[in-house]
Amino acid sequence: MKGWSNMFGYRNNVPKVRLLTERLVVRLVYERDSWRLADYYEENRRFLKPWEPYRDESYYSNSGWQARLAMIEAMHQQHSAFYFALMDTDEKEILGVANYSNVLRGAFNACYLGYSLGEKYQGQGFMHEALTATNRYMQQAQSLHRIMASYMPHNQRSGNVLGSLGFEKEGYAKDYLLIDGQWQDHVLTALTNKAWRSGH
Ligand SMILES: CC(C)(COP(=O)(O)OP(=O)(O)OC[C@H]1O[C@@H](n2cnc3c(N)ncnc32)[C@H](O)[C@@H]1OP(=O)(O)O)[C@@H](O)C(=O)NCCC(=O)NCCS
Repeated sequence: MKGWSNMFGYRNNVPKVRLLTERLVVRLVYERDSWRLADYYEENRRFLKPWEPYRDESYYSNSGWQARLAMIEAMHQQHSAFYFALMDTDEKEILGVANYSNVLRGAFNACYLGYSLGEKYQGQGFMHEALTATNRYMQQAQSLHRIMASYMPHNQRSGNVLGSLGFEKEGYAKDYLLIDGQWQDHVLTALTNKAWRSGH
């Protein structure tokens, strides 16, 4: 890590990443976000259902998120995943999430990206704004060469966001992910960092 570590500081090797965009604070989630995350998933429960894996009840409770955040913090410590919250500038409410998971190093330097935005914040460019900042962080501070994301062919909004950020279509996977109880085909896309430089 160069540059960014000084800018954001580290505690117990947990990266404290807080990115400021035009309208948002986009930062890594941490233990005290449990109730905010439970609120986000509860408020958008019905809206997100067709687009996400089955969520058990722990997704809608403070205690469920406390347990999950302990695991996420361990992954943050190992730099194996980066779970970001999109927040208003007062950092009171979570508007959406952007999760970079399964970070693999070596000759791959790649990870997967998943995201969602609250129903009332659709169509205002918030996800594009947030992912512009987080992709840059993952590419520059975390030296990732490839960020992979996939979407169901009928999820036009998701395809549009990825296209607008420079993700390129790479394939089509049959029965790829178990979404809302059904194995669903997905369009596979990736953003590769043409200016990649080793930082690890
Ligand atoms: C996928 C998802 C995040 C896309 O949300 P979104 O609001 O369409 O995306 P953005 O926040 O980037 O907003 C882009 C839209 O805002 C509009 N917009 C308005 N103001 C804007 C601004 N200042 N800057 C950029 N775009 C703006 C754009 O024109 C675009 O609308 P359009 O697609 O009708 O042209 C959202 O639909 C979602 O959470 N869906 C459910 C979960 C999901 O599908 N997750 C992904 C699984 S692969």
